[in-house]
Amino acid sequence: MMMELCPVEGVRRAGDGIYVLSFVSAAMSRSIRAGQFLNLRVEEGCEPLLRRPFSAYRIEKTSIEILFHVVGRGTAALRKKRQGDVLDVLGPLGKPFRTADPGYDTGLLIGGGLGVAPLPLLASALREQGKAVVTFLGARSASQLVTDHLENVHTATDDGSIGFRGNVVGLASDFLGKHPITRPKIFACGPMPMLRAVASFARASDIPCEVSLEGPMGCGIGICQGCPVELAGPEKSYALMCKDGPAFDIRTITI
Ligand SMILES: Cc1cc2nc3c(=O)[nH]c(=O)nc-3n(C[C@H](O)[C@H](O)[C@H](O)COP(=O)(O)OP(=O)(O)OC[C@H]3O[C@@H](n4cnc5c(N)ncnc54)[C@H](O)[C@@H]3O)c2cc1C
Ligand code: FES
Repeated sequence: MMMELCPVEGVRRAGDGIYVLSFVSAAMSRSIRAGQFLNLRVEEGCEPLLRRPFSAYRIEKTSIEILFHVVGRGTAALRKKRQGDVLDVLGPLGKPFRTADPGYDTGLLIGGGLGVAPLPLLASALREQGKAVVTFLGARSASQLVTDHLENVHTATDDGSIGFRGNVVGLASDFLGKHPITRPKIFACGPMPMLRAVASFARASDIPCEVSLEGPMGCGIGICQGCPVELAGPEKSYALMCKDGPAFDIRTITI
């Protein structure tokens, strides 16, 4: 983990209220692994006080990109960054997805909303390891689907404006019913209700599954204890989303 003042390269629009911010860090670009996140100080000064966590979206040489949805004060400030601004970045944080697991041949990538953000890096890590990739993306409408830098993409929208009408778990289950895949493993990221539906689908279908959680975080580095995740098992015990996750094998947590 390192903290660095990184030059911003720019911000571009990627969808309705959705933007890509890129900044330069040679050191972080070499060390980030798919599924890890960066904690950004979105404004100079004290307000907002807490850093904001974002998944690493893409890496191109020494450029690092994050994909973000403007939902509040911090993300509104990020959208206004310009080339030449300096961004205070702490990272890479968290544990990466466990892609080297020999127990599967095809990664089924499931992203809901901005849960798509870690998937391009994950897809390239899987390709490097000789795994096949099938991607399922869900969003409210076509204008919020970000399908760039992904492969074998199947889409679902709540309003049916493009692709399957319904949620992304329904889409994946419908697809796998028609096109069975041998030795799959699910990697999912998105809002909690979607991740619960993915986990119950994976359990019912006996497919190994990791989910990347995106709950609220305070420090992002295991100090404030503000991001507990209940572990599976007879004793009540907790892991920390920021330090032990954000990606967890669904067999290890209560979800
Ligand atoms: C590990 C991790 C990775 C993330 N990666 C991404 C990413 O790649 N792209 C992206 O757009 N967002 C991502 N998020 C969520 C992102 O951190 C929040 O959207 C951001 O902090 C909001 O800051 P804000 O100041 O704009 O909003 P705030 O003013 O803090 O909040 C605005 C609204 O958003 C809600 N909100 C805030 N944080 C979250 C959250 N974590 N989950 C759900 N709702 C939230 C608040 O409850 C509130 O309703 C990630 C979160 C985590 C924990
Ligand atoms: S956010 Fe502080 S311990 Fe996880």
